[in-house]
Amino acid sequence: MLHSQEHRSPRRKAKLPDEVRFLQSWFQNPLKTGAVSPSGPALAKMMASYLDPRLQGPVIELGPGTGPVTKALLNRGFAPERLFLIEYNPEFCALLRLRYPGVTVIQGDAYALGKTLAGKLPAKAVGTISSLPLFTMPQPERHRMVDEAFDLSIPGAPFVQFTYAVVSPVPLVPGRIHGERSPRVWRNLPPARVWAYRRP
Ligand SMILES: C[S@@+](CC[C@H](N)C(=O)[O-])C[C@H]1O[C@@H](n2cnc3c(N)ncnc32)[C@H](O)[C@@H]1O
Repeated sequence: MLHSQEHRSPRRKAKLPDEVRFLQSWFQNPLKTGAVSPSGPALAKMMASYLDPRLQGPVIELGPGTGPVTKALLNRGFAPERLFLIEYNPEFCALLRLRYPGVTVIQGDAYALGKTLAGKLPAKAVGTISSLPLFTMPQPERHRMVDEAFDLSIPGAPFVQFTYAVVSPVPLVPGRIHGERSPRVWRNLPPARVWAYRRP
Protein backbone atom coordinates (compact mmCIF):
# COMPACT_ATOMS: atom_id res chain seq x y z
CA MET A 1 0.00 0.00 0.00
CA LEU A 2 1.24 3.48 -0.86
CA HIS A 3 1.71 6.12 1.77
CA SER A 4 -0.08 9.42 1.17
CA GLN A 5 3.35 11.04 0.59
CA GLU A 6 4.04 8.64 -2.31
CA HIS A 7 0.58 9.37 -3.76
CA ARG A 8 1.32 13.06 -3.81
CA SER A 9 4.84 13.05 -5.18
CA PRO A 10 4.15 12.47 -8.94
CA ARG A 11 1.67 15.38 -8.98
CA ARG A 12 4.10 17.53 -7.08
CA LYS A 13 6.84 16.55 -9.53
CA ALA A 14 4.67 17.48 -12.53
CA LYS A 15 4.33 20.99 -11.12
CA LEU A 16 8.04 21.59 -10.56
CA PRO A 17 9.37 24.63 -12.44
CA ASP A 18 11.84 23.72 -15.18
CA GLU A 19 14.59 25.63 -13.37
CA VAL A 20 14.23 23.25 -10.39
CA ARG A 21 14.16 20.13 -12.60
CA PHE A 22 17.31 21.38 -14.28
CA LEU A 23 19.12 22.08 -11.07
CA GLN A 24 18.20 18.61 -9.78
CA SER A 25 19.55 17.05 -12.98
CA TRP A 26 22.73 19.12 -12.66
CA PHE A 27 23.28 17.91 -9.08
CA GLN A 28 22.79 14.29 -10.21
CA ASN A 29 25.04 14.57 -13.28
CA PRO A 30 26.77 17.95 -13.76
CA LEU A 31 28.94 16.93 -16.72
CA LYS A 32 25.99 15.56 -18.72
CA THR A 33 23.51 18.31 -17.82
CA GLY A 34 26.07 20.95 -18.67
CA ALA A 35 24.07 23.98 -17.43
CA VAL A 36 22.24 24.94 -14.26
CA SER A 37 19.16 26.36 -15.99
CA PRO A 38 17.32 25.90 -19.29
CA SER A 39 18.01 28.11 -22.31
CA GLY A 40 15.89 31.24 -22.57
CA PRO A 41 13.41 31.85 -25.42
CA ALA A 42 15.65 34.38 -27.23
CA LEU A 43 18.51 31.87 -27.52
CA ALA A 44 16.16 29.02 -28.49
CA LYS A 45 14.60 31.22 -31.20
CA MET A 46 18.03 32.16 -32.53
CA MET A 47 18.97 28.45 -32.74
CA ALA A 48 15.74 27.51 -34.54
CA SER A 49 16.20 30.37 -37.03
CA TYR A 50 19.04 28.40 -38.69
CA LEU A 51 16.61 25.66 -39.80
CA ASP A 52 14.18 26.11 -42.69
CA PRO A 53 10.73 24.51 -42.18
CA ARG A 54 10.00 24.78 -45.93
CA LEU A 55 12.55 22.03 -46.64
CA GLN A 56 11.19 18.48 -46.58
CA GLY A 57 12.49 16.14 -43.91
CA PRO A 58 12.97 15.53 -40.20
CA VAL A 59 14.98 17.56 -37.69
CA ILE A 60 17.30 15.93 -35.15
CA GLU A 61 17.45 17.59 -31.74
CA LEU A 62 20.22 16.58 -29.32
CA GLY A 63 19.96 17.21 -25.57
CA PRO A 64 16.47 18.79 -25.52
CA GLY A 65 16.31 18.84 -21.71
CA THR A 66 12.96 20.33 -20.68
CA GLY A 67 12.26 21.44 -24.27
CA PRO A 68 12.86 25.19 -24.84
CA VAL A 69 14.50 24.54 -28.23
CA THR A 70 11.78 22.02 -29.16
CA LYS A 71 9.21 24.74 -28.45
CA ALA A 72 11.10 27.21 -30.65
CA LEU A 73 11.19 24.67 -33.51
CA LEU A 74 7.42 24.15 -33.21
CA ASN A 75 6.89 27.93 -33.14
CA ARG A 76 9.04 28.20 -36.26
CA GLY A 77 6.58 25.97 -38.10
CA PHE A 78 8.00 22.47 -37.86
CA ALA A 79 5.22 19.89 -37.34
CA PRO A 80 5.76 17.77 -34.20
CA GLU A 81 6.05 14.61 -36.34
CA ARG A 82 9.18 16.05 -37.95
CA LEU A 83 11.07 16.34 -34.67
CA PHE A 84 13.35 13.51 -33.44
CA LEU A 85 14.72 14.22 -29.99
CA ILE A 86 17.59 12.35 -28.33
CA GLU A 87 17.84 12.90 -24.60
CA TYR A 88 19.94 11.01 -22.07
CA ASN A 89 17.92 11.83 -18.91
CA PRO A 90 14.82 9.54 -18.62
CA GLU A 91 12.90 12.08 -16.50
CA PHE A 92 13.34 14.76 -19.16
CA CYS A 93 12.21 12.20 -21.80
CA ALA A 94 8.98 11.53 -19.87
CA LEU A 95 8.35 15.27 -19.53
CA LEU A 96 8.99 15.92 -23.24
CA ARG A 97 6.55 13.16 -24.28
CA LEU A 98 3.88 14.70 -22.06
CA ARG A 99 4.59 18.26 -23.09
CA TYR A 100 5.02 17.82 -26.86
CA PRO A 101 2.65 15.14 -28.22
CA GLY A 102 3.64 13.90 -31.68
CA VAL A 103 7.37 14.44 -31.35
CA THR A 104 9.59 11.34 -31.25
CA VAL A 105 11.58 11.22 -28.01
CA ILE A 106 14.43 8.70 -27.93
CA GLN A 107 16.16 8.03 -24.63
CA GLY A 108 19.76 7.43 -25.60
CA ASP A 109 23.26 8.68 -26.25
CA ALA A 110 23.66 11.45 -28.81
CA TYR A 111 27.35 10.60 -29.13
CA ALA A 112 26.34 7.25 -30.65
CA LEU A 113 24.11 9.10 -33.10
CA GLY A 114 23.96 6.59 -35.97
CA LYS A 115 23.23 3.72 -33.58
CA THR A 116 20.70 5.66 -31.49
CA LEU A 117 18.76 6.73 -34.59
CA ALA A 118 19.14 3.46 -36.52
CA GLY A 119 15.91 2.72 -38.44
CA LYS A 120 14.07 5.67 -36.85
CA LEU A 121 14.52 8.58 -39.26
CA PRO A 122 12.00 8.47 -42.15
CA ALA A 123 14.31 10.47 -44.46
CA LYS A 124 17.52 12.50 -44.44
CA ALA A 125 17.35 15.31 -41.89
CA VAL A 126 17.17 18.99 -42.83
CA GLY A 127 19.42 19.76 -39.88
CA THR A 128 20.57 18.94 -36.37
CA ILE A 129 20.12 21.27 -33.42
CA SER A 130 22.15 20.57 -30.32
CA SER A 131 22.38 21.86 -26.75
CA LEU A 132 24.82 19.15 -25.68
CA PRO A 133 27.62 20.17 -23.31
CA LEU A 134 30.33 19.58 -25.92
CA PHE A 135 33.40 20.69 -23.96
CA THR A 136 33.05 17.74 -21.57
CA MET A 137 33.81 15.37 -24.47
CA PRO A 138 37.20 14.90 -26.18
CA GLN A 139 37.53 16.82 -29.43
CA PRO A 140 37.69 13.73 -31.73
CA GLU A 141 34.37 12.56 -30.24
CA ARG A 142 32.78 15.93 -31.05
CA HIS A 143 34.02 15.80 -34.63
CA ARG A 144 32.84 12.22 -35.02
CA MET A 145 29.34 13.09 -33.79
CA VAL A 146 29.04 16.12 -36.07
CA ASP A 147 30.21 13.97 -39.01
CA GLU A 148 27.58 11.35 -38.14
CA ALA A 149 24.91 14.07 -38.09
CA PHE A 150 26.03 15.26 -41.55
CA ASP A 151 25.88 11.67 -42.83
CA LEU A 152 22.23 11.48 -41.67
CA SER A 153 21.31 14.80 -43.32
CA ILE A 154 20.71 16.31 -46.75
CA PRO A 155 23.71 18.10 -48.34
CA GLY A 156 24.28 21.55 -46.85
CA ALA A 157 22.19 20.84 -43.73
CA PRO A 158 23.48 22.68 -40.63
CA PHE A 159 24.54 21.32 -37.28
CA VAL A 160 23.41 24.08 -34.91
CA GLN A 161 25.00 24.40 -31.47
CA PHE A 162 24.84 27.01 -28.74
CA THR A 163 27.73 27.86 -26.46
CA TYR A 164 28.59 30.20 -23.60
CA ALA A 165 32.26 29.98 -24.60
CA VAL A 166 34.31 32.44 -26.63
CA VAL A 167 35.78 29.74 -28.90
CA SER A 168 33.89 27.38 -31.19
CA PRO A 169 32.92 24.19 -29.31
CA VAL A 170 33.52 22.25 -32.53
CA PRO A 171 36.95 23.20 -33.90
CA LEU A 172 36.63 24.14 -37.58
CA VAL A 173 38.50 21.97 -40.07
CA PRO A 174 39.07 23.42 -43.57
CA GLY A 175 37.42 21.19 -46.18
CA ARG A 176 35.62 19.17 -43.50
CA ILE A 177 33.70 21.41 -41.06
CA HIS A 178 32.91 25.05 -41.81
CA GLY A 179 31.14 27.29 -39.29
CA GLU A 180 29.37 30.62 -38.97
CA ARG A 181 28.58 32.22 -35.64
CA SER A 182 25.71 34.41 -34.51
CA PRO A 183 26.04 37.63 -32.55
CA ARG A 184 26.01 37.04 -28.78
CA VAL A 185 22.47 36.68 -27.38
CA TRP A 186 22.69 39.10 -24.45
CA ARG A 187 19.12 38.43 -23.35
CA ASN A 188 20.08 34.89 -22.37
CA LEU A 189 21.52 34.28 -18.92
CA PRO A 190 24.39 33.66 -19.18
CA PRO A 191 24.79 35.33 -22.61
CA ALA A 192 25.42 32.75 -25.31
CA ARG A 193 25.95 32.49 -29.06
CA VAL A 194 25.00 30.04 -31.77
CA TRP A 195 27.27 28.25 -34.22
CA ALA A 196 25.98 26.71 -37.45
CA TYR A 197 28.40 24.13 -38.84
CA ARG A 198 28.22 22.75 -42.35
CA ARG A 199 30.05 20.18 -44.44
CA PRO A 200 31.43 22.03 -47.47
C1 LIG B 1 22.77 22.18 -21.41
S1 LIG B 1 21.38 21.06 -21.31
C2 LIG B 1 20.33 21.80 -22.55
C3 LIG B 1 18.85 21.51 -22.39
C4 LIG B 1 17.90 22.33 -23.28
N1 LIG B 1 18.05 22.02 -24.69
C5 LIG B 1 18.11 23.80 -23.08
O1 LIG B 1 18.63 24.44 -23.99
O2 LIG B 1 17.72 24.30 -22.01
C6 LIG B 1 22.04 19.61 -22.04
C7 LIG B 1 21.08 18.44 -22.18
O3 LIG B 1 21.76 17.42 -22.90
C8 LIG B 1 21.48 16.16 -22.30
N2 LIG B 1 22.63 15.28 -22.66
C9 LIG B 1 23.92 15.39 -22.22
N3 LIG B 1 24.69 14.45 -22.80
C10 LIG B 1 23.88 13.73 -23.61
C11 LIG B 1 24.09 12.64 -24.50
N4 LIG B 1 25.30 12.09 -24.66
N5 LIG B 1 23.04 12.17 -25.19
C12 LIG B 1 21.80 12.74 -25.08
N6 LIG B 1 21.53 13.77 -24.26
C13 LIG B 1 22.55 14.27 -23.53
C14 LIG B 1 21.36 16.47 -20.82
O4 LIG B 1 20.64 15.47 -20.14
C15 LIG B 1 20.64 17.83 -20.86
O5 LIG B 1 19.25 17.65 -20.88
